[in-house]
Amino acid sequence: MKVFITGASSGLGAALANEFATRGACLGLVARRREALDAIEAALPGSHHKYVVDVTDKDALIGAAQAFDSAVDGADIVIANAGISIGVKTEFYEDLDQFAKVINTNVLAMATTFHPFIAGMKARGRGTLVGIASVAGVRGLPGSDAYCASKAAVIVYCESLRVEMAKYGVRVVTISPGFIRTEMTNQNPYRMPFLMNVDAFAERAADAIVAGVPYRTIPWQMGCITTLLRWMPRWIFDRLMANRKQKPRAVETA
Ligand SMILES: NC(=O)c1ccc[n+]([C@@H]2O[C@H](COP(=O)([O-])OP(=O)(O)OC[C@H]3O[C@@H](n4cnc5c(N)ncnc54)[C@H](OP(=O)(O)O)[C@@H]3O)[C@@H](O)[C@H]2O)c1
Repeated sequence: MKVFITGASSGLGAALANEFATRGACLGLVARRREALDAIEAALPGSHHKYVVDVTDKDALIGAAQAFDSAVDGADIVIANAGISIGVKTEFYEDLDQFAKVINTNVLAMATTFHPFIAGMKARGRGTLVGIASVAGVRGLPGSDAYCASKAAVIVYCESLRVEMAKYGVRVVTISPGFIRTEMTNQNPYRMPFLMNVDAFAERAADAIVAGVPYRTIPWQMGCITTLLRWMPRWIFDRLMANRKQKPRAVETA
């Protein structure tokens, strides 16, 4: 198995790298922090490829993807996992740049990650593209304007691509994590129901990816909650969310 993973220097990406390496995969690992990536790779069984790249640098990411694809003679699985979560409020001028950063990293870079692999996968008639979404993409949460918008876009984008790719034998898997214990969730000021250990998440996500499941929420309990939220009338949702604690804005954490 040959697996390309963005955002592999910590959290979900590092745990997925460990899970797939343990299953015997050869990996292409992407992130900006060289030392963190080196440390992750050094602890993995097997031999792998590392690319110190910012996923919002389109040409650099495509270059890394092409280098991995030719080094391994065609990737089997591509996981677009790199992502950021920052509190963003539309009313503040300085938050507009943060909004763009979130969309560039979480949405546009996902398309850039998949793009270089599609022609090869179509020619081979197989391959799996994986988008890491979020339960935050199901309803809009106050103070998370950009993050929720980005993850809603990921969910619908992956659906478009799934149907588009199906006739070529290329599968598109959307993984929607609930709350997983990582650097990203460490600072969250609100309650995180069913908070999950990252290695348990990675094992379940890898099973869903290998099986080619179209859409999977992990843990399953958050799947039930998001189904409930999705169909909840707006007036109940608005009341429930009115006093929810909000993620700090970038300027508040600087
Ligand atoms: N943790 C959760 O509860 C949760 C829930 C739902 C969805 N998710 C999603 O899961 C994904 C991973 O999140 P996480 O919790 O594992 O967060 P994390 O620990 O903060 O990891 C984020 C990863 O993305 C990489 N990254 C961020 N911006 C990048 C950029 N411009 N270029 C290259 N790499 C970049 C980071 O690497 P460098 O900093 O080294 O570049 C890091 O490896 C994200 O898409 C997130 O939205 C997480």
